[in-house]
Amino acid sequence: MTSVSAAIRAALLTADPTAKAFAARQVARDWAAGKLAFVFDCAMPDEPARPAAPELLPPNRMPKRGKGGSQRGRIALWHALAHIEFVAIDLALDMAGRFGAQMGPQFVTDFLAVAADEAMHFALLARRLRTLGSHYGALPAHSGLWDAARETSHDVAARLAVVPMVLEARGLDVTPMTLERVRASGDETGARILERILDDEIRHVRFGSTHFTAVCAARGESAESLWKSLVTRHFRGAVKPPFNDSARGEAGLPREFYTGVAH
Ligand SMILES: [Fe+2]
Ligand SMILES: [Fe+2]
Repeated sequence: MTSVSAAIRAALLTADPTAKAFAARQVARDWAAGKLAFVFDCAMPDEPARPAAPELLPPNRMPKRGKGGSQRGRIALWHALAHIEFVAIDLALDMAGRFGAQMGPQFVTDFLAVAADEAMHFALLARRLRTLGSHYGALPAHSGLWDAARETSHDVAARLAVVPMVLEARGLDVTPMTLERVRASGDETGARILERILDDEIRHVRFGSTHFTAVCAARGESAESLWKSLVTRHFRGAVKPPFNDSARGEAGLPREFYTGVAH
């Protein structure tokens, strides 16, 4: 039987976006069907494979998006979101493959399900771009989305604190506003995609907070103080309002956590 780590590694090392999305969903399906062994006999790559396009640029060198209402602005929005979902596939795969051995089979189940969701999100957004006459890779994209993974590859608690509980939680805050704008522009198909993504992302953040709480209990540490210290140490951005308190609450993120580090 193939080891789950070998299957995850192969998906991480797939560069073509469509093929990577397909591979991620296949790994999740095979794992759920009991076709992969809970064996961790190969290391995860430091950097996952990336396609030649999009060109990755630091945020300050990204071209301006232009006005939201223009066709160019719309394409830029969906392209930026597609890129976030593309990197999210790798983040979820790496979570399962790097920390699955120590965290156990349920952790692998949860984060491979996240990887499959992200692959679906990416596919929906890539299709949206094609219906607008563009495609993923047509524009430059943000180069910094793997930074958090690099910064937290040594510690599952740090990874959970920063990736699902800060970065994906940020998605819960900003997506409703984007959704409203997209719906107001008359793009109902786009609005539906964002609704689905928002729903799924609540579950992703909840997996993060559930496993984080379990790690803290096992280490005999207070979840709140460990989360704050890990975020302060390993997250360079600001945890800042506006917060979507109701979505965060559903995702198991208590207000005391994130209001305390807001600056
Ligand atoms: Fe997603
Ligand atoms: Fe997600």
